[in-house]
Amino acid sequence: MAFTIAIDGPAAAGKGTISKAVAQHFGFAHLDTGLLYRAVGRRMLDGVPALDAARALMAQDLDAEDLRAPAVAQAASKVAVMPEVRAELVDFQRAFARRSGGAVLDGRDIGTVICPEAEAKLFVTASAEVRAQRRFAELAGAGVITSYDRVLADVRERDARDMGRAEAPLRPARDAVLIDTSEMDIDAAVARAIDAVNLARRST
Ligand code: DC
Repeated sequence: MAFTIAIDGPAAAGKGTISKAVAQHFGFAHLDTGLLYRAVGRRMLDGVPALDAARALMAQDLDAEDLRAPAVAQAASKVAVMPEVRAELVDFQRAFARRSGGAVLDGRDIGTVICPEAEAKLFVTASAEVRAQRRFAELAGAGVITSYDRVLADVRERDARDMGRAEAPLRPARDAVLIDTSEMDIDAAVARAIDAVNLARRST
């Protein structure tokens, strides 16, 4: 049986952690769709035209080690503005979403464009300051030397690009459940997400 959970939201809102936990709770497969854009962005940094990189993308490209680097995140957000790059990545995401056994996809446009028929839709957000603080702690923990102000500027720049683009901009689907994690710890956010999915499961 197919059951799709679409989880969208801005960078560093807790979407990734929530998505993994929700997938594990329900025994569903999980796809972090940001990795598709990051893998394309990374190839672009190597000089490969973004559309060629999107066309040639393979599942193992999603395992590359440096996809989490801030420079790759910015490159991902730049290639994500290109409609032809987005179009190349649609079929893979939709096929993943409808696999039997259930799927969780997290990204920016899953509930609005990729899977508007998803059985459950969540929009996970938090203030830019809280998100920058979390991302800064994560980077510092990984030994990346940067400053909070720099990370906040990066978060704001990426938000503006992701929300302001013409093609599939970041916004909640009309029927998405909003979860603001600014003042929630991760366990509370995961519990809230699981409750919302259980509610959707009872009504499908
Ligand atoms: O979730 P992330 O930070 O790994 O995403 C990296 C970039 O990819 C993000 O700035 C916008 C883009 N993206 C997108 O446009 N649509 C998605 N479904 C997922 C990510």
